[in-house]
Amino acid sequence: MIIKYFHFLFVFAVLIFSLSCCDDDGTGDFVEVCDPEAELLIIDYNPESYNLVIPVGFQPVEQPVDNELTVDGVLLGRHLFYDPILSADSTMSCSSCHKQNGAFTDNLTISTGIDGIAGKRSSMSLMNLIYNPNGFFWDGRSSTLEDQALLPVEDPIELHNNWDDLIEKLKCHEEYPAMFRKAFGITNKTEITKELAAKAIAQFERTLINSGSSKFDSIFLRQEGFFSDAEVNGYDIFFDTSPDLPDGQCGHCHAIPLFTENEYRNNGLDEVSDLEDFVDKGRGEFTGNKFDNGKFRTPSLINWEFNAPYMHDGRFATIDEVLDHYISGIKESPNKDPLMENHDDPSKPDYIDENHRADLLAFLKTLTDTTFIKDKRYSNPFN
Ligand code: HEC
Ligand code: HEC
Repeated sequence: MIIKYFHFLFVFAVLIFSLSCCDDDGTGDFVEVCDPEAELLIIDYNPESYNLVIPVGFQPVEQPVDNELTVDGVLLGRHLFYDPILSADSTMSCSSCHKQNGAFTDNLTISTGIDGIAGKRSSMSLMNLIYNPNGFFWDGRSSTLEDQALLPVEDPIELHNNWDDLIEKLKCHEEYPAMFRKAFGITNKTEITKELAAKAIAQFERTLINSGSSKFDSIFLRQEGFFSDAEVNGYDIFFDTSPDLPDGQCGHCHAIPLFTENEYRNNGLDEVSDLEDFVDKGRGEFTGNKFDNGKFRTPSLINWEFNAPYMHDGRFATIDEVLDHYISGIKESPNKDPLMENHDDPSKPDYIDENHRADLLAFLKTLTDTTFIKDKRYSNPFN
């Protein structure tokens, strides 16, 4: 009996010791010491699959076999995503530039990191990433979300931290070692690595799927409700489905149901005569192929209402400026997408005349998914 009691006390002491953090306050008073090599076996490891809810009409999803979603993996990723511990001065987290109420963008023209230095591109909406097989970032330079998640932490114009320091902090944190144990079954704090942190973040990101409750999804995917006349006209322009209305060609690139086909395109934003002259070479910077210069991954239009400003450099502040571009502002360049031709030529079926602006806008507004923006599962777990 006594032996059992001591055994219990011992286990309890190990638990407290292993979860406590190095709080060196320099006063010479009692200082707790963190053991970054403490065992974690005392904490249960019972992985449970995360139940991904996919809207009716969406393709089944594929998960990487070496990083399937679990409840605890997603929870850990969500904490890391929102935790300023990721930045060198603990002021910023992923969520500083990817805010849920901004459709996971920062609503800035160009994102700025912890040192106040601006990058060169606008933050990207994080939604339906699980469906993108075609590279991440505007230029696709990162092939997986696991890969991608490693980058912002050390990026000098983002979180400007270094992984070694961060991992040491995580090992000595009160909660994270147990969370890593529950998510990945590690048996010792020494097994906490940046790769596991990135896997957890990637798991959380894969859960960010739109809810299927936009007006468009309700009507198109589930035949619930009706479009207004203006929305029907807008639909027809967007998808080229009426001989009496302009062929906007939008739906070829912003394709159903994600409103992107995740391809790299030049939608005529800049006028250059030589392919080397694009200020931001975009896709070409990654592939090294000059015909990819000036191409960027087509963004989804779901929740555009929340993610202004628009385009890779945030050059358009409003949707009206975007429509100005597609109606009359398309610029010439050698690799401009053929679908961008003739929108401003009244003799062509692709001519979008000003009278159709309101219809197109009415249709675009049916793509708003407020449920996603408010979904508690994606919100800051520290609030
Ligand atoms: C300082 C602002 C900033 C911070 C902090 C930041 N991001 Fe980003 N994020 C961006 C910008 C800007 C882009 C687009 C960059 C580009 O294309 O070159 C981006 C792109 C992405 C993408 C690509 C999305 C797609 O569809 O291709 C993902 C995923 C992402 N960020 C996740 C994260 C994660 C995870 C973190 C934290 C570890 C993070 N970001 C931290 C600004 C930021
Ligand atoms: C050839 C393919 C293509 C076609 C056709 C096309 N787009 Fe785009 N669209 C893109 C690409 C690529 C971008 C991003 C370009 C960039 O940032 O450099 C984009 C960006 C946008 C954006 C900004 C989204 C954001 O979050 O920044 C909106 C809105 C938009 N398009 C609406 C439309 C509408 C409306 C039409 C039809 C009139 C249309 N697009 C036709 C490829 C296309």
